[in-house]
Amino acid sequence: MDAGYTGEQGSATTGEQVMNTTFARRMDSVRSSTIREILKVTEQPDIISFAGGLPAPELFPVAEILSATERVLGESNAAGSLQYSPTEGFAPLRETFAAESRKRGIDCSADDILITTGSQQPLDLAGKIFLNEGDCVLTENPTYLAAIQAFQIYEVRFAAVPTDGGGLIPEALPALIERERPKFLYTIPNFQNPTGVTLTAERRQTLYSIAARYGLIVLEDDPYGSLRYAGKSIPPIKSLDTEGIVIYLSTISKTIAPGLRVGWAVAAANILGKMTIAKQAADLHTSSFDQRIVHRYLAEFDSEAHIELIRRSYGERFLIMDASLRESMPPGFDWTHPEGGMFLWVTCPEGVDTNELMREALVRKVLFVPGRDFFPDASGQRFMRLNFSNATPEQIREGIQRLAKVCQTTAIA
Ligand SMILES: Cc1ncc(COP(=O)(O)O)c(C=O)c1O
Repeated sequence: MDAGYTGEQGSATTGEQVMNTTFARRMDSVRSSTIREILKVTEQPDIISFAGGLPAPELFPVAEILSATERVLGESNAAGSLQYSPTEGFAPLRETFAAESRKRGIDCSADDILITTGSQQPLDLAGKIFLNEGDCVLTENPTYLAAIQAFQIYEVRFAAVPTDGGGLIPEALPALIERERPKFLYTIPNFQNPTGVTLTAERRQTLYSIAARYGLIVLEDDPYGSLRYAGKSIPPIKSLDTEGIVIYLSTISKTIAPGLRVGWAVAAANILGKMTIAKQAADLHTSSFDQRIVHRYLAEFDSEAHIELIRRSYGERFLIMDASLRESMPPGFDWTHPEGGMFLWVTCPEGVDTNELMREALVRKVLFVPGRDFFPDASGQRFMRLNFSNATPEQIREGIQRLAKVCQTTAIA
């Protein structure tokens, strides 16, 4: 019902009354995130932000995207890129993503691919097709905050799988599965957001065999796997999937550009069919135009060389951030050493509340995301997430000095 309907409730309404009487109950359980509030101030020119999960904009392949766009519009069937198109996605791009998924170790064909509006959309689609009110979702703790939001909409419960430096601990799963009867496990095995931690190969095997034993659906979210700047790639959990229980998600957001909003899901036919229906109801299809641009870009330019450039740059930025933290942070602060991706995770001494730290950080014009938002139960006060892909090396050095001063002040207080 549109906002005009509220006028029928009698006297003039305030925003407060609309909120109480009109919005669906499901919105009550969705937390607004601190990150959105923080991002509002990042526009100020002298702020250094380690808060957003943004790729480096200077590495976007602008000239190549321009050229791909011109070619798409110059084609004899250019109108096709401006027309409605099938929900499953542009067939040649489904082929491209199937080939990319096979390179990563996943046995699939174009028929197993659903093109999605970023990899954010299939989180919602998974919620739509699996979750009823009161259902349980297993997640790493902490986990990606917009996944928490996506599932919270469906009025679910969360149960945390314990994690350490090797990712989630699969041995903890059987007891959790038996107690909580979860609908699915959501996991980010590569350079996890927010911790930067990677799930070991052994644990992927163990996780998969436990999931297969219990028939547990695994939602494997892999936006960062191609951004490995150290160590060796580990095949996705989906590569082990003989039972059709793993839904694999990936995206071009971190390897080409997030503004294009193109991602993909690989799943068994029965799951993909339901996701396709849910997507049809949500947006009919991902932009025909954007899909064709992405297809042209991947067909005609050396995207691997471009990803190599991103890897090298992010690897350098991580090393600069790590060295700057070592030089200037007070004792008692520790952080992860990811081999790829865009984030590291700082553990502060017991008793520090990073929401409090944030106030002082704003005064000193440096931003991070306090840990709380990444925990479904809003615990995690002593953690902070730092993004190292978006700031320049100079900004990283300066920003970490500012952050260290904030931490020193608080540690002394
Ligand atoms: C773990 C994770 N999943 C999904 C997404 C959504 O990415 P997109 O919708 O741009 O593909 C992000 C974005 O930062 C992310 O970190």
